[in-house]
Amino acid sequence: MSDALNRLHDIEPSVGEFRDAVLAGLAHPRKSLPSKFFYDAEGSRLFDRITELPEYYPTRTECRILRDHAGDIAGLIGPGVRLVEFGSGAGIKIRLLLSALDRPAAYVPVDISRQHLLTATARLAREFPGLPIVPVCADYTRPFTLPDHRSAGAGHDTVPGPAVGFFPGSTIGNFTPAEARDFLETARCLLGPGSSMILGIDLRKDEGTLSRAYNDTAGVTAAFNLNLLRRINRELDGTFSLDQFTHAAWWNARQGRVEMHLVSRRDQEVGIGAHRVRFRAGETIHTENSYKYSLDQARDLAAGAGYRTRTAWTDDAALFAVLLLTAP
Ligand code: AVJ
Repeated sequence: MSDALNRLHDIEPSVGEFRDAVLAGLAHPRKSLPSKFFYDAEGSRLFDRITELPEYYPTRTECRILRDHAGDIAGLIGPGVRLVEFGSGAGIKIRLLLSALDRPAAYVPVDISRQHLLTATARLAREFPGLPIVPVCADYTRPFTLPDHRSAGAGHDTVPGPAVGFFPGSTIGNFTPAEARDFLETARCLLGPGSSMILGIDLRKDEGTLSRAYNDTAGVTAAFNLNLLRRINRELDGTFSLDQFTHAAWWNARQGRVEMHLVSRRDQEVGIGAHRVRFRAGETIHTENSYKYSLDQARDLAAGAGYRTRTAWTDDAALFAVLLLTAP
């Protein structure tokens, strides 16, 4: 743990940033909150539980694809790479990848939740004792710089291979298509010429499967959604009654996305510090978009960001895709 702590590069968003985003989002005629703030310690835990739900197919499908093709991926990207992961999850996927890679030079997990990052990193460090790990606590939806790989403790004489980005889980679906393009382009520049990107994308499919994945019967997704209000109460001195809002999620066919909302059960007024926010009965706070792409749309998205799609792997049911993108 101390090792991971010493090496941590910390630019976690401040409470002030959270407050500004919340007040701005709730001042809109159509209220919204940025989904990146779901991931406090409790939110990260709830998300890990979502990934194990029977209805939530993306995680296990992506793991399956990675398990089946980790060897191919490792062969294509070659030895000695610096692996930069955007958003570090429970860590099953990174283990699959790290185990297959030929002598990776370093692992750089970038995550918005400091606690989650440190816990996950400490565990991984014990399993890969020879691997230099450089955790970066940052909001990767904004520009940031990568620490020098040598600060990871790698020998000064090692020549690092090219950087490889890893953006699994279809987290890219949280961005609008324009934001997704910008993110990929920024990542391509950050990782540098000759770099690659391993990208997980959830594919378009029937509405029933999508709806069930975001409306699980155990109510974990609802708890995950409502936890955002609990976080506002705790960090911003809010007065949300969690039983006065309900979880809702549906497929928006026109936009090609699943939307999550919190619906006000009645007319009510909520305090956030010194501020007052009014809700009408049935009014919603839009908390998340989860865009779904066809394989062709995914390739187009990558091309728009200056990437070539080298290979795309999917599962037999074509639920999910893992793309290997290469930068010129
Ligand atoms: C982590 C953004 C990929 O959109 O499916 C899961 C988050 N939200 N259930 C997704 C989420 C509700 C998840 N991503």
